[in-house]
Amino acid sequence: MSVPQPPEPIPGARLLFSLDPAVSHLNHGSFGAVPIGVQRAQQRLRDEMEANPLRFFTQGLVDRIAHTRRHLAGFLGADPDGSALVGNTTTGVAVVLQSLGLQSGDEVLSTDHGYGAVSLAIQRECRRTGAVSRVLPIPLAASDEQLVQIIRAGLRPGRTRVLVVDQLTSATAKLFPTAAIVGVAREHGVPVLVDAAHAPGMLSTTVASIGADFWVGNLHKWAYAPRGTALLAVAPQWRDRIEPLVVSWEQESGFPARVEWQATLDYTSWLAAPAGLFTLRSLGVDRVRAHNAALAAYGQRVVADALGVPPAQLPDPGGPEVSLRLIPLPAGLAATIDAARALQARIGERLAAEVAVMSWNGRGWLRLTGQVYNTADEYERLAVRLPALLAQR
Ligand SMILES: Cc1ncc(COP(=O)(O)O)c(C=O)c1O
Repeated sequence: MSVPQPPEPIPGARLLFSLDPAVSHLNHGSFGAVPIGVQRAQQRLRDEMEANPLRFFTQGLVDRIAHTRRHLAGFLGADPDGSALVGNTTTGVAVVLQSLGLQSGDEVLSTDHGYGAVSLAIQRECRRTGAVSRVLPIPLAASDEQLVQIIRAGLRPGRTRVLVVDQLTSATAKLFPTAAIVGVAREHGVPVLVDAAHAPGMLSTTVASIGADFWVGNLHKWAYAPRGTALLAVAPQWRDRIEPLVVSWEQESGFPARVEWQATLDYTSWLAAPAGLFTLRSLGVDRVRAHNAALAAYGQRVVADALGVPPAQLPDPGGPEVSLRLIPLPAGLAATIDAARALQARIGERLAAEVAVMSWNGRGWLRLTGQVYNTADEYERLAVRLPALLAQR
């Protein structure tokens, strides 16, 4: 079967980034890449901070943070007064888990597509409180209807205190029908925490349309913000119960300031985040989304063809904007997380290509992303060289 055409490149986009030109950067998903203009915006803020630290921290910083939060929340379709800036999705998840007041006998329900660090956070909160963690297995190929059905059947009303689901999964690059899941959970009186680490910038779905009790997403992946920028949106009935991980001077101000103000930190990543949105908007938000998703799909097909994987065996991410794609690796490769990490490093070193290698349920997967700085020939080069590298076990 023929491979689809790659999208038209976005002229000049690569020059917006300081990425090493000797490397193909095909894993935007893990840590993002910050455009040069955004790096400069943050540096200007740091210069301002270092010119007069006392003034920077004591005169107007809380208001500047609030102003930034309103801007970012507006872009994401979240309630600006019901959202808080946090450093990353991991922090947002921890804030929510420790605010739930879990008790012995309660249950935290999640799925086997969840992010590893989030699973560890759930386990720790369960150990701390005596609650139990239950993980629902969901087949990779489950349709939206099947997925909602599995979750509906897995809820234990009265016991399940929170359901944690991803909007777009990391290990399996699968879009979950979060609004439908929230609807089912609500019917059963179960609050939902959506891990939306990859959503901001990539997906057009608004936070409000999902309607979750808690939603947290990173702006430092697909929205070009400096690292350390995430938004935690909280439904009105929970806001008074949300406690920060660290108590500081805004504790008595309530949500969201008490969560945002975390003592003497470098807040410049948040303040520079609107420059990331400016970059995205300048390139054209819809154009970037369409480009990235089409390029990831193209990369998936050329690499899969080279590995002899038929199109029917390629996981469908479940939505037209998804810019992460999986390719199954030959059986036995990357069967464990350690083996996946080692293979990822080997591909990086030997092929000058940064990719994600995932181990999920005992099976290895290559995860490729598309970004405005990528071109079709980067995936083609990987496709030519990868089979030989994988053959050297
Ligand atoms: C689904 C998912 N959740 C959570 C995270 C954690 O994000 P962070 O390291 O920014 O906290 C990631 C990071 O890739 C992710 O993919």
